[in-house]
Amino acid sequence: MPFRPFLALVLALTLGPTLALPLGAQPPGGVVVSQERLASEAGAQVLREGGSAVDAAVATAFALAVVHPAAGNLGGGGFLLSRPTRGQASFIDFRESAPASAHPRMWLKADGAYDEARHHESLASVGVPGTVAGLREAWRREGRLPWARLVAPAVRLAREGFALSENQAASLAEQLPAFARHAPTLAQFSREGKPLRAGDRLVQRDLARTLQRLAKDWTDFYRGRTAALIVRDMAANGGPITAQDLRGYRPVRREPLRGTYRGFELLAAPPPSSGGQVLIESLNILEGFDLKAAGSGSPAAVHLGAEALRRAFADRAQFLGDPASAGDIPLARLLSKAYAAELRATIRPDRASASDPSRFTWEPDRPHTTHLSVLDRAGNAVSLTYTLEESYGLKRIVPGAGFLLNNELGDFNAVPGLTDATGRIGTVPNLARPGRRPLSSMCPVILVKGGSVVMVSGSPGGRTIPATVLNTVLNVVDFGMGARAAVDAPRFHHQWLPDRIQVEADLPAATREALKAMGHTLKEVPKQGCAQVILVRGGQAEGAADTKRWSDSGVASE
Ligand code: DON
Repeated sequence: MPFRPFLALVLALTLGPTLALPLGAQPPGGVVVSQERLASEAGAQVLREGGSAVDAAVATAFALAVVHPAAGNLGGGGFLLSRPTRGQASFIDFRESAPASAHPRMWLKADGAYDEARHHESLASVGVPGTVAGLREAWRREGRLPWARLVAPAVRLAREGFALSENQAASLAEQLPAFARHAPTLAQFSREGKPLRAGDRLVQRDLARTLQRLAKDWTDFYRGRTAALIVRDMAANGGPITAQDLRGYRPVRREPLRGTYRGFELLAAPPPSSGGQVLIESLNILEGFDLKAAGSGSPAAVHLGAEALRRAFADRAQFLGDPASAGDIPLARLLSKAYAAELRATIRPDRASASDPSRFTWEPDRPHTTHLSVLDRAGNAVSLTYTLEESYGLKRIVPGAGFLLNNELGDFNAVPGLTDATGRIGTVPNLARPGRRPLSSMCPVILVKGGSVVMVSGSPGGRTIPATVLNTVLNVVDFGMGARAAVDAPRFHHQWLPDRIQVEADLPAATREALKAMGHTLKEVPKQGCAQVILVRGGQAEGAADTKRWSDSGVASE
């Protein structure tokens, strides 16, 4: 439906301040939101030159691999959700895959005991990286500008360097002890072992050369010099990834998960992510409650939201894994409105229910991941989340190639059958197998109404990701917030086990007290996630970057 200013004004006057601007209608210009302003700007410049949303996302993602080494990457993987104005929405799964030698007991010592360091901190935790192949696949289908043009800003930022922000300098300094375990990594991210300071230039020459090779020929990563550097490092240090593993890596095009919420269509991440399942299942449950009447940040809204998440996360634990080999995932049932009604009926409005800890427990969250949202002037949208798993992944660069390796295989279950109080789960769908992709929580999402994109959202934060995205969706759809308020409002999260609601510290004290009185245990955190949101309201695209936890986050407009 075309946007009508008069109608907007009438709606604004009749509906009052919360819905002052109607959602929808075509944006006049494009927007890029990411965790680093320099990377958002690289994407926006691509839009100015006539690039598509996918072009901008590719340029932003490559730039993040340079200016946000904590999570932007070449050596990791992720998911790209694209919703072009014309044509089909698509989802590219470029999640890392397990090498051919992987098996469920690969993180056990000879005596059968679980070796946590091997699972999370060794070359045996590295998945075959998918980022370069995934970005290339997106570009092949929906790119407009030359590939090399999209890699160019990253090459320049790596070769010429960039001045470190306070954020970046502090983040690198914090990791110095970990980098110090590997001389080439320490050399890249410090000044001869001393911390870099805000304002210092970070020049990454090896990374610049790698990017330059990829600009000419992306297959270099999987079968050229870059592949050879990875394989040499693996072979020299007992790592399992082989030349065949790299050659065999393929991104997978999948159908996005689809749902509806109060008249909005949702496009979200399918398995091997659990992000879409948790988000859509939770929203289906919540659709039966009047959250708007309860109000944002109210005890009822947080209680019901947490109870919905609790149930969706229990199903995640039981059923989700790589769809290629994890057996049947009963997605149709999990995402049905009828099943949501059954679950809703088990929620008491005034009382916390209990998670059954005899089923499984969870590992603590490990930062870090990053999300970017793009909307171009034609209304094409991209929602992209990618990761190295932990902050700076394995905290180890590939010598000579200058990029960090992921430790994504840590997302596989640790030990078959072992479920214990330290937070491990041992269910079958997420055990390591050759080529299998570890279960993820990443949750890039796009909301559509009347045929047009109205919202793009996503966040880092491990298992808190679908909850953070849920918060942004509720803030817009139920509470009528604009993008800025939707990002800034205090967030909550529940993941079934541990049985507690995680809340941001600025959730009103009265709400926290009321939740405790209902029987909830609360865990207070300063901040949760780092959501990058675009909203289309009143014919304008509003970008809101999340600066709560990472002040470099920024919006760049076409
Ligand atoms: O794929 C996943 O769900 C995790 N590897 C993501 C890790 C993460 O988001 C930590 N971020 N803050």
